[in-house]
Amino acid sequence: MATLLELAGVRAGYGGGDILQGVDLSIDEGSLTCIVGPNGAGKSTVLRVISGLLHPSAGTVRFRGESLTGRSPRTILARGIVQVPQERSLFPTMSVWENVRLGAFSVPDRRLVERRLATVVEMFPIVAERRREPAASLSGGQQKIVEFARALMLDPALLILDEPSMGLDPKTRTLVFNTVREMNRSGRTLLLVEQNARSGLGIASHGVVMESGRVRLEGPGVEVLNNPEIARLYLGATA
Ligand SMILES: Nc1ncnc2c1ncn2[C@@H]1O[C@H](COP(=O)(O)OP(=O)(O)OP(=O)(O)O)[C@@H](O)[C@H]1O
Ligand SMILES: [Mg+2]
Repeated sequence: MATLLELAGVRAGYGGGDILQGVDLSIDEGSLTCIVGPNGAGKSTVLRVISGLLHPSAGTVRFRGESLTGRSPRTILARGIVQVPQERSLFPTMSVWENVRLGAFSVPDRRLVERRLATVVEMFPIVAERRREPAASLSGGQQKIVEFARALMLDPALLILDEPSMGLDPKTRTLVFNTVREMNRSGRTLLLVEQNARSGLGIASHGVVMESGRVRLEGPGVEVLNNPEIARLYLGATA
């Protein structure tokens, strides 16, 4: 399988010393990679480095073989790396439809935008069903789904989701995880960060456990999930 994104020896921090202590991470085309780990392990920091919001002090980030190290967030977005942030990010008073269309604001080809809208509506019927309603009238889980739909309007090569299940009730959480799995099954390469380690690793083709700014363990999602050491260290408290 071809490597899409590769981090090698990445060190990065916020001015008071490095938080990431040399992170190696490889994401295959078509995979669903899930990063888990305790609070403060550096998961979101890895995402910030990938999106160009934080520049590494050492190490490299390569995408399809091209160096992205030190490139701007705008350049990285233009390469097709799109992130859905942890917090709610829809424009609350705008309609569901307007929010989704806005995802493609940078796409000049109107017919391409229409084609993508059709694909997104097929995958997420709620976008059509609730199209005229303000985004704020949707539940937290529904808003998350609409955020996925909006991100897909850019047809990303890599879709990054930071803790999409946070704050959702168990039933809605299941819906969100099923949706994440569906996006991956339809061919999308995904990078997921999750507090909900059992659910995240359960759907992941590749699981990564971070601790203290390092990758502590990685392998097929289910193997990581069933690793006794990991169960003892992380899963009891977070699942
Ligand atoms: N903007 C910042 N300025 C200074 N330190 C920060 C900043 N953001 C994060 N940190 C520190 O970097 C470390 C790693 O944070 P990070 O957000 O990457 O952890 P995380 O694994 O995403 O944790 P969580 O599960 O709580 O989201 C923490 O010690 C945190 O306090
Ligand atoms: Mg985080």
